Parts: sequence; C-alpha cells; structure tokens
Amino acid sequence: MNTPFDIASIRKDFPILNEVVNGKQLVYFDNAATTQKPRVVLDAISGYYEHYNANIHRGIHHLAEKATSAFEQSRKRLQAFLNAQFSEEIVFTSGTTDGINLVAATYGRKFLKEGDEVIISTMEHHSNIVPWQMLCEEKGCILKVIPINDEGELLMDEYEKLLTERTKFVSVVHVSNSLGTINPVKEIIEKAHAVGAKVLLDGAQASSHLHLDVQDLDCDFYSLSLHKIYGPTGMGILYGKKDLLNAMPPYRGGGEMIKEVTFEKTTYNELPYKFEAGTPNIADVVAAKYAIDYVETLGKANIAAYENELLKYATEAVSEIEGLKIIGQAKEKVSVLSFVIDGIHHQDIGVLLDQQGIAVRTGHHCTQPLMSRFNITGTSRASFAVYNTKEEIDLLIKGLHKVKRMLG
Ligand SMILES: Cc1ncc(COP(=O)(O)O)c(C=O)c1O
Repeated sequence: MNTPFDIASIRKDFPILNEVVNGKQLVYFDNAATTQKPRVVLDAISGYYEHYNANIHRGIHHLAEKATSAFEQSRKRLQAFLNAQFSEEIVFTSGTTDGINLVAATYGRKFLKEGDEVIISTMEHHSNIVPWQMLCEEKGCILKVIPINDEGELLMDEYEKLLTERTKFVSVVHVSNSLGTINPVKEIIEKAHAVGAKVLLDGAQASSHLHLDVQDLDCDFYSLSLHKIYGPTGMGILYGKKDLLNAMPPYRGGGEMIKEVTFEKTTYNELPYKFEAGTPNIADVVAAKYAIDYVETLGKANIAAYENELLKYATEAVSEIEGLKIIGQAKEKVSVLSFVIDGIHHQDIGVLLDQQGIAVRTGHHCTQPLMSRFNITGTSRASFAVYNTKEEIDLLIKGLHKVKRMLG
C-alpha cells in the first residue's frame, strides 16, 4: 500500500492501540463515532492540569495569564484550520450538537417567523434534525427535506425545487456519518444564497477528512467536534460570519458573556465571548491545538489519500462476502463502510466482532430517518482513520466470514 508516512510510527503515537480486548489486539474501526487521541493531546491535557490550571481572562496572576494565552492560541489555530477571516468568528462550544443548537436557538428564534421554511436533508444526524424541528414547532416554520438516491447521494434537482423565497435557512451535513457521502456543499450554499437563505454545515465528519476553507465555501455557519479529529471530547467550535454573530442574541446568560450588569439592564460582551458564558472547557480547548497540529503535520491530503486506499481495499474485500450489501455507495465518499448482511442482525455482527477484538459501530448511527429511507433498522459500520492498516481490514474480513459461518 502506498503510504505517504510511516504507519508503524503513527500507531506508536496512540497508546490505546496497544489495548487487548477479549484476548485479542484491539482493532479500532469506530472512528466516525470518535477517533483515538495521540500522546501529544493526552500530554497537553495533563500538562495544563499539572502546570498552569487556572481560570481564564480575568486573572492577573501568572497561571491565569498562561492559561488564557494557551486558550486564545487554540482559537487562532482553529481559525487557521478553517481559514476563517477573523478569530472572533470562532466560538468554542461543547461540540457539533451544541453549535447547531446555538444557531437554531439564537439566529433561528430572532430571524425566522411563521411560514418561513428550513431545509435539511434525508441523511442528517439527529443533531441536525431535532433543533430545527424544535424551532419550527415554536415559530410555526416548515421543515423540508432533500431526498436522496439509492447510492446515498442528494438529489440536487429536488433540492432546487424545494428552494423558494420562503426558504430562510438550509442546514446540511458536509459528510454523512452513516454513508460516508461527501455532499456538494458549495453548490448547495450558492443556490441557498441565491434565494436569500443562510446556510449551516454540519462538519462533524468532514473535519477529519477534508480540507476546510469557510471563506471559499462561503457558508454562514460551520459546526464541528474536536473529538472526531484526534482531539478531546466535550469541545468543538462553531464558525459564524462576524456580521451574523454580531446580529444574533446571546445563547446562554452568565459570567464572561457580559460587558456590564445592573439589575435594570445587562450589556453583552463582544465576539466571541458573547457566546461563551461561564468557565469553558479550558483543558480540552488547550489540547485541541495539539490535535490540529498533529493532523496538519501529517497533512490532511496525505491522511485522506491513505484512508481512501483503505476504503477501496475494504470495499473490494467485503464485496466477496455473499449476502453483504454496502449502504452508501456515493461517487464522492470518505472512509466509512456501512453494510448489512442478509439474515443477520447488525447487533449480532457487532457482538461477534467485538469477541474478536474488533470495534465497529452498529445501529442507526443517530440517523433514524435515513435508515427508514433504506428500509432497514441499522447497519454495521467500519470507519477508518490514519492509524488503521490493511492487515486490520484482513482481520475484519476474517471476522465477518466467521460471523457468516456462525449465524448465516
Ligand atoms: C454528522 C454528525 N453530526 C453531528 C454529530 C454530533 O456530534 P457531537 O455528538 O460531537 O455533538 C455527529 C456525531 O456522530 C455526526 O456524525
């Protein structure tokens, strides 16, 4: 296999890969749920707690200044990662879900009114469905859904038909977690803007595989989670265009998000602090910078090329398994392999693979409407990251043959 980097040495960066599960060396193929963390990220978290744990922004002592500086450096690093024009366009959140809820609850509540339309797609994660349903219920807006074809690609002609002068918001996933499909988001954004609608991209999956440039995409909002990019859990970012963030009301009230408080009236802080009430997840924000540095040192294009080779290899190998059907065969996709096997429940596949030390995800992957579209209740999903190998895929194939022998 053509590897632009030394996989053996990359694997050494991830201590968890040495774990033994059910007497077998761990094979971790649940990367779309969360990726493992390299030593540099683990060290950054413990380093913060061991050497400069302090609350940020308002302290004048040494530790507080050091923590504040590391926290704000992380913001600048993420600004560069997304190519955002201004660092204040980067709002720290607890993850993709939090970012989407923030936009629905602030932009949505302020600017959408009865009869306005919101467009999402059939392949959305529940976190990009429910906040819009809640908003529509509250405001009397109408939720419309872009259909997909059997390969798991958006029907762009149908999307165009859904767009009207009543469309005020389009919120779609950049890359599907269940199918791996890479959506034509630039075209989606252009067409939404042509009718005056704003666009949010759910970047939970795209951010670890694709080069991101929010200025080039011209999206209005972009929400992602660091735990899917080799970073810590419990933190993410919401990118928003500065003029929109400025026009939006705050999300949560409390410390840090205010300029001045009296019992009569409160004035709000400037961006991005207006959206960062309370003590943030400082340790994980600080560590996020190290995750991004790690990814960019390897090179996103190199990572994607390697993962695509793994996907190709695995796709060809599973095609030999009788009764196995891949769900999600888009022309443009990332290293996510979702499948069903005739007569065998996805959960049984997961349990039997786990007995062989192989971690895959089974179920609806928080995309129940998408599962209904394919008339299934769930899939088994193997998703590949930079530390996975062809030899591990061979073990998966061997494991699936065993599952077939036992249950098929
Ligand atoms: C496409 C997509 N959107 C949103 C999310 C939610 O991310 P989080 O749970 O980190 O908020 C996920 C997580 O699996 C996802 O895959």
